[in-house]
Amino acid sequence: MAELSRRKMLLSGGALGALGVLGMAVPAQARTVPWTWAPSGSVAGAGAGADPRWVWDEEADPVVAALFERGEVPLVNQLLWDWVRNDQPLPGGLPADLHDFIERNRQLPSWANPGKLATAADFNKRRGLYLNLLNGVGGGMLSTAIPKEARSVYYSAGGANMEDRVAKTSILGFAVGALDAYRPEGNCIVNSVKTRLVHAAVRHLLPQSPHWSGDIPISQEDILVTWHTLPTYAMRKMLEWQVPMSTADRDAYLHVWQVTAHLLGVRDEYIPADWAAANAQSDQVLPPNMGPTPEGVELTDILLGQLAEQTGTITRPLVNALARFLVDPQVAAWDQIPRDPFWEGTIATVWPILVRFREALIPAPLVPEIAWTIDEALRQYILLFLTKGQETKIVIPTGNRPN
Ligand code: HEM
Repeated sequence: MAELSRRKMLLSGGALGALGVLGMAVPAQARTVPWTWAPSGSVAGAGAGADPRWVWDEEADPVVAALFERGEVPLVNQLLWDWVRNDQPLPGGLPADLHDFIERNRQLPSWANPGKLATAADFNKRRGLYLNLLNGVGGGMLSTAIPKEARSVYYSAGGANMEDRVAKTSILGFAVGALDAYRPEGNCIVNSVKTRLVHAAVRHLLPQSPHWSGDIPISQEDILVTWHTLPTYAMRKMLEWQVPMSTADRDAYLHVWQVTAHLLGVRDEYIPADWAAANAQSDQVLPPNMGPTPEGVELTDILLGQLAEQTGTITRPLVNALARFLVDPQVAAWDQIPRDPFWEGTIATVWPILVRFREALIPAPLVPEIAWTIDEALRQYILLFLTKGQETKIVIPTGNRPN
């Protein structure tokens, strides 16, 4: 999960700014205004303009549904377990329809730019601490304040074991940020395609859950909402924190996420072509798709408890304050993140100093001890998640949450 911290967007006047204005009074309603984001702003440059709320994955969904009908999901999981590298041939024995689907959809889009992907890899390395914090903790807090996502996660198989779920999700997060993400020896293509299959399985399984009501989950709009809680939110926060970034870096960072969206099955006509288009789309889809749920509150508590546990050096009140620092106050309230005035004040004071120090804008002796403590805690957190991410793999779920 990578949603916990989309909150300071109010300050940047971005999507969360809009959320702050709208969300206070109108939590998490279905979008009632028509879809107006223009496909001319997409990487495709054109499109029918269909509302993505009513579009799912017309290629993956029937293939995965057929796997369930034929009882082949366990076999497929077994066969795909050791399919890890981008350039690795598929194992023999896969059902023909699935084999063809993967071969077609493991290709990079024609617009993928190797130079930009290389720049993005370097950027991810240089900005890893911020990005892991924003995509991991921040993104996690945001996702729990997206009712459709919180309910999907809660009632799917992974909802019963959030440690494993977080570890699996972090596999893709780290794959996107890896130096070789989309190179032959990397694994981001494989993990994106596997995630696309998992999402198709969730669309098949969740409507069968006695706890589920509503539309088929994980529409194209839902994926876009989550996508904006990752790169769009992270970029806005880094700008707000005045992290120095070149235009080439910013564009490259967007690009690696554009390619990832494509591989996750988002249609090119919905993938923003530049940051202006991304911000506009984010402002349209996030506010009406955020709000409180009991499931989101419980997931938030589990996630923050895990974070406090795993970063042994910091306490739960500090973790709560960190999460609150990363998200808008309205989101923190929806997630019911407990308040801690002391730590909230401390982080607000120390964080800008830490950023300036890391960016070599101020000399070391001015950095207070607490900044190092936070820095170190985050490193440990990231390291732990990385380690766990290597212990497990993304597999197609065979059922929903059992209880
Ligand atoms: C599974 C990433 C959007 C709900 C996964 C997995 C990854 C992932 C890596 C595999 C890990 C696992 O099996 O636990 C992403 C990314 C997204 C996105 C990068 C958007 C850019 C969404 C949305 C929803 C959603 C919008 C719901 C509204 C789920 C669920 C699972 C899953 C329910 C399966 C959990 C399980 O049964 O274990 N996602 N996801 N995802 N995702 Fe997403």
